[in-house]
Amino acid sequence: MKKATTTFLLSTLVATATGIPLEVLQARQNASISCAPVPSPWPTWQQFPAQKSLPDPFLPLKYMTTDNAAGSSTFANDVMSGKAKGRITTKEEWYKCRQPEIIQMLQEYQFGYYPDHSQEKVEATRSGNTINIAVTAGGKTGRFRATVTLPSGASASKPAPVVINIGGMQNAAYLNAGIAVAQFDYTSVAPDSNSKTGAFWDLYKGKDVGTLTAWAWGFHRTLDGINMTAKEIDPTRVGVTGCSRLGKAALAAGLLDPRITVTMPMSSGVQGLGPYRYAGLSGQGENLENSKSGAGWWSNSKLGTFVNHHENLPFDAHTIAAAIAPRALVVDQGSGDQFVDSKGTSIVMYPAAKAVYDWLGVGDKLGLSVRSGGHCDMSGFTSVLPFVQKVFFGTATTKDYTSTGNYGAAMATAMPWTTAAPPRAA
Ligand SMILES: *[C@@H]1O[C@H](CO)[C@@H](O)[C@H](O)[C@H]1NC(C)=O
Ligand SMILES: *[C@@H]1O[C@H](CO)[C@@H](O)[C@H](O)[C@H]1NC(C)=O
Repeated sequence: MKKATTTFLLSTLVATATGIPLEVLQARQNASISCAPVPSPWPTWQQFPAQKSLPDPFLPLKYMTTDNAAGSSTFANDVMSGKAKGRITTKEEWYKCRQPEIIQMLQEYQFGYYPDHSQEKVEATRSGNTINIAVTAGGKTGRFRATVTLPSGASASKPAPVVINIGGMQNAAYLNAGIAVAQFDYTSVAPDSNSKTGAFWDLYKGKDVGTLTAWAWGFHRTLDGINMTAKEIDPTRVGVTGCSRLGKAALAAGLLDPRITVTMPMSSGVQGLGPYRYAGLSGQGENLENSKSGAGWWSNSKLGTFVNHHENLPFDAHTIAAAIAPRALVVDQGSGDQFVDSKGTSIVMYPAAKAVYDWLGVGDKLGLSVRSGGHCDMSGFTSVLPFVQKVFFGTATTKDYTSTGNYGAAMATAMPWTTAAPPRAA
């Protein structure tokens, strides 16, 4: 059993208020590193090999397409087992090349493209605990409201970290721990349906963007509003959370904005941290097909082209998690929650993402909380709280955030690339 340490707090030097960690920024500015070009146009599902196991996160897209298969009868197997040529071999290559490629790829194939924030003007006013946020872009304005609840003692000279949530959380435990809680009504940003109303769609109607991305944008504009009006909150220590579909959104929020210090998705399922492959491990699974037919609006239309071909996806849930590194991510699952495949998240997604976090030297920034109970139980928020306190305050915890609970050992066959000669850690 590994004991949690607090060392990572010091190692996460953040270069600027953009939230981009210094080592990531340095790698991206390093001209001596050249990246494999991102394929253009983007490959279709037919151009990717069918992979039964989780795709190798270290393999750039250019080397994953069947264009590389000529004359090789073992191409698909080589890709799956980490034997394909062109893998990332250094940490700098990961941060400069592969991480940005993954974030682009996920927008192309799943989330839809996040709006260009540099073209937005954000205005915010505060009245008591309510922040009114107005975002203007392209001559249109979208408006919504957020609320903040401050822990006692928070002040401009002693600002508190904050967790922004949608759908509600266990406020008291966080407030008692000195953490502010913010919330916005996600349906006023984008409804959970095909209807294109709300602040996000007031600006971006007609764009092929999933609702999860719209909600992620709501988290980020809430943070903007907090930064502008709530000096009692420290905008450089920020968590995002939600459960179920709102957990999928919290994950997108953490992925798409490096200002998010700790991403806290709960019971998130597919399009969150439930793997598309192995979706049935808990016996009753949300999968690509039923999520796309039941709530197609969560993602973009491109994801629909992979329906009945999910093994051709060049990524899976572990890829999303890995792309958040070196920032913190804690994944909560209820062991009584079969529909979102808690087992697959625990023994397939988590160890695969952990392989990347470990290789980057930030293994203790990825936590798993498997608790008893069902879907969206409020106990999930207290289960991850010590991890969040560790991130925000450096508070040590003895709670084991590597335990898969009763699910047991990692499913090694799901990630054969972890046993291939590991890339050289920089
Ligand atoms: C807060 O606002 C200031 C002033 O616009 C900006 O420089 C800073 O980057 C913002 N911080 C965050 C965390 O958004
Ligand atoms: C840039 O990357 C090269 C190759 O990985 C490495 O040897 C060098 O130290 C890096 N330079 C800086 C300034 O980080």
